[in-house]
Amino acid sequence: MSTSFEKKNGEFEGKVVIVTGAASGIGLATAKLFAAEGASVVAEDINPSVNDIFGDHDGIVPFVGDVATESAAKEVVELAVERFGRLDILVNNAASIVYKNAVDMSLDEWNSIINISATGLFLHSREALKAMIPNQSGAIVNIGSYACFFTFPGISAYAAAKGALAQITRTLALEAIAHGIRINAVGAGDVVTNLLNTFRDDGREFLAEHGKLAPIKRAAQPEEIANVVAFLASDKASFVVGAIVMADGGMSVVIQ
Ligand SMILES: NC(=O)c1ccc[n+]([C@@H]2O[C@H](COP(=O)([O-])OP(=O)(O)OC[C@H]3O[C@@H](n4cnc5c(N)ncnc54)[C@H](O)[C@@H]3O)[C@@H](O)[C@H]2O)c1
Repeated sequence: MSTSFEKKNGEFEGKVVIVTGAASGIGLATAKLFAAEGASVVAEDINPSVNDIFGDHDGIVPFVGDVATESAAKEVVELAVERFGRLDILVNNAASIVYKNAVDMSLDEWNSIINISATGLFLHSREALKAMIPNQSGAIVNIGSYACFFTFPGISAYAAAKGALAQITRTLALEAIAHGIRINAVGAGDVVTNLLNTFRDDGREFLAEHGKLAPIKRAAQPEEIANVVAFLASDKASFVVGAIVMADGGMSVVIQ
């Protein structure tokens, strides 16, 4: 089964984009948005369903890989350059979450979260920058969270990984801007996706309900975050460097 994509305005015509975690939620919405705007997209996910979703679509190449591995980071960038000739945009979106208090969390569980959201982000950014620097242009957008700044019990690994994401974003932004490459992050609030389904069956319903705590009184749909990603990746954001742009319905500005 391949997905049909609507065509929009061609804002990203001629651009080559890698989106990680593209089989679900925000990554899926982001890959579809870039494709609709004319970009060539490499859609990476550890879940082989990415092949079914994107397999037959012109201009989108699925790639099955674990973002936490150095081999996937190298191969996905090589694939983008081989297939489409260059790399313009990387969206580091893939993540997973373990919801357990520290006393119940194994080292493997801790490492798996850090390896995806911190190490995987570093590896993909490093390989992408090697491809972008010769062009002296490009953009990287990382998907952060209000967990870049705030936390609650049970998410120590996830919060540590998103804190790392914020600091990797800022540090690499300083290194990359010398080459005309902008790196930023989106601080997403509650978004109705499958993120929590690894530990609760009602993950989507929980996110929809939890979103009502935000001043906007609802959770986001993935497309609302994809729109912010596209803005940060576009020339419209030409003066935005090293920012964590909050898209959280005001969750991070109110004292509850
Ligand atoms: N949903 C929310 O409320 C929310 C809030 C803040 C931030 N975020 C962030 O948004 C991003 C996307 O998550 P989502 O909410 O769309 O969740 P999701 O579970 O719907 O999608 C995540 C995708 O990442 C993939 N993935 C997981 N581990 C991977 C790995 N090792 N290698 C490659 N792919 C992997 C999954 O297979 C899945 O397709 C994440 O970075 C998440 O932390 C989500």
